[in-house]
Amino acid sequence: MLILGIETSCDETAAAVVRDGREILSNVVVSQIDIFAEYGGVIPEVAARSHLEVMMPVVKKALKDASCTWDEIDAIAVTYAPGLLGSLLIGTLTARTLAVVHNKPLYAVHHLKSHIYANWLGNTDKLPAFPLLALVISGGHTQILSMPAHNQFEIIGTTRDDAVGECFDKVAKILGLPYPGGPSIAKVAASGNPSKYRLPHPKIPELDFSFSGLKTAVLRAVQKEAGVPISYPSHKLKELLTPQQVADFAASFQKTAVDILAEKMKLALEKHPETKSVVIAGGVSANQELRNTFSDAFFPEPKFSGDNGAMVAAACYYEIQSGVKPTDPYKLNIYPRISIEN
Ligand SMILES: Nc1ncnc2c1ncn2[C@@H]1O[C@H](COP(=O)(O)OP(=O)(O)OP(=O)(O)O)[C@@H](O)[C@H]1O
Ligand SMILES: [Mg+2]
Repeated sequence: MLILGIETSCDETAAAVVRDGREILSNVVVSQIDIFAEYGGVIPEVAARSHLEVMMPVVKKALKDASCTWDEIDAIAVTYAPGLLGSLLIGTLTARTLAVVHNKPLYAVHHLKSHIYANWLGNTDKLPAFPLLALVISGGHTQILSMPAHNQFEIIGTTRDDAVGECFDKVAKILGLPYPGGPSIAKVAASGNPSKYRLPHPKIPELDFSFSGLKTAVLRAVQKEAGVPISYPSHKLKELLTPQQVADFAASFQKTAVDILAEKMKLALEKHPETKSVVIAGGVSANQELRNTFSDAFFPEPKFSGDNGAMVAAACYYEIQSGVKPTDPYKLNIYPRISIEN
């Protein structure tokens, strides 16, 4: 079965053709990172307009790279939630129109499902086994999910404030590192000392997370190191740090963030001894320190950690296998904030 997956939930315009949820025939991603590096973050209205400009060329290239015609496509899958309102609208309106024009069944896929199913993409022999625990760590989410079987999700832990990816991005800003912060921190952390600065682990009970305190702890530690009061503007701190101090802060922060995630997953496994596999998903799963720490877990190929259309097609395939029916292209709505459990 050939599925065209379309993804526009944030600042990547993406489309891919995937056979039977795993074999990638094409994968086209146009990132807006260059535009937003200038601003230090995503501007929703600009993101939506950029999607509009490249959406159809991206879909056409996905079909061309896969050497397939519309006749050969069995279904169209699109991200309908969660994400930026204007960005989701461009992707869903495109998919709805294409479904009507080419008379194809249309499937609406939750973005976090897609991140999780990126772990099924590719030619690996070994696939995750159920029941499994999934750790979703991205720009907008930090959640632990229990998956007893395909397409069944229960959230057993979630962040009470910032997502871990958001925390990487905010700490990078404090350190004067370019957007997006995750890869920038990982890069400079390689030459830093992870034990140089002691940062606190939040005391949040059970399997929930909190990352806003860690961000503030880095801010206070940088102000202390620079010898300035807590009222000192954060955007000027970078001028007071040496490259070695930046590297040491990046390494210390990265280690603390990874340790917090590891502690919670250890607790989650103690509470769910029946677990057969641990699956890590979302943009932060590209992080090498994290991959070294969770050596027994499943990770997507790094190029499928961030947003892409192939993972949407993969998630759709397993939805269809689980009996999910197509949606009405004339009625599909978008939901900027909706749980994977809905
Ligand atoms: N190597 C890395 N180390 C740490 N964080 C990373 C790395 N690469 C990317 N990230 C982080 O991943 C996040 C982007 O991931 P993703 O694209 O999945 O998020 P999103 O789609 O914006 O949010 P969501 O999936 O929750 O809607 C950013 O916060 C980015 O800094
Ligand atoms: Mg994402």
